[in-house]
Amino acid sequence: MSGHEFQSFFPESGTVDMADTSTHITEATLVEMRVLADRYPQARSALLPMLHLVQSVDGRVSPRGIEACAEVLGITAAQVSGVATFYTMYKRRPAGEHHIGVCTTALCAVMGGDALLEHVSDSLGVHPGETTADGKFSLEAVECNAACDFAPVMMVNWEFMDNMDPDKADLLLDDLAHDREVHSTRGATITSWKEAERVLAGFPDGRADEGPAAAGASLAGLAIARERGWRAPEAPVRLKEEQ
Ligand code: FES
Repeated sequence: MSGHEFQSFFPESGTVDMADTSTHITEATLVEMRVLADRYPQARSALLPMLHLVQSVDGRVSPRGIEACAEVLGITAAQVSGVATFYTMYKRRPAGEHHIGVCTTALCAVMGGDALLEHVSDSLGVHPGETTADGKFSLEAVECNAACDFAPVMMVNWEFMDNMDPDKADLLLDDLAHDREVHSTRGATITSWKEAERVLAGFPDGRADEGPAAAGASLAGLAIARERGWRAPEAPVRLKEEQ
């Protein structure tokens, strides 16, 4: 990209709010950014985890966070913000303590996802893309989470809530609003969006093994295959030799 500034092909996706210069990024954050950069043969490959680290500290991609990434990686702020505004996991406005996603892609939508999003939006009093006034929740309509066998699904801080309906969503939101301990339907403890972002940055919280790796509907096909003695076809010989 040398010699060229990044040009967004999605100008309607919005920009980082440069007017909000608040930040909690410190020298310790910069040290962690350098740790991330050192993990890759080419330092700039660390930009995506570094942006998650920025979000774990500032609750969004902040102007200072953009500058800090640029400083550590030796690239321009425009290049950093070009990446930050391309991916929907990077937030340009402060996310809530808990970030709620409701899947409205085709399968979830027909299984109740659209109605679920409308219900959650009414319950929280915000539209998708907004954060509640008390900063507790933000809401987003998300695309397919590859969990169609548990449709409709919600995400809380990127953890799965499978087979949801409006009543279950209300109970969940009430528990979160009152800081009660909540678990994903797959077992993981729900922490906060910022804590989840720190894990995505590459600093594990030791909870990765909570809950089963796969269960329920995801394994139904495997159970049928075992019952009937079905096996995947052998790989072609040439493919095997390449492995
Ligand atoms: S359509 Fe919602 S998880 Fe696939």
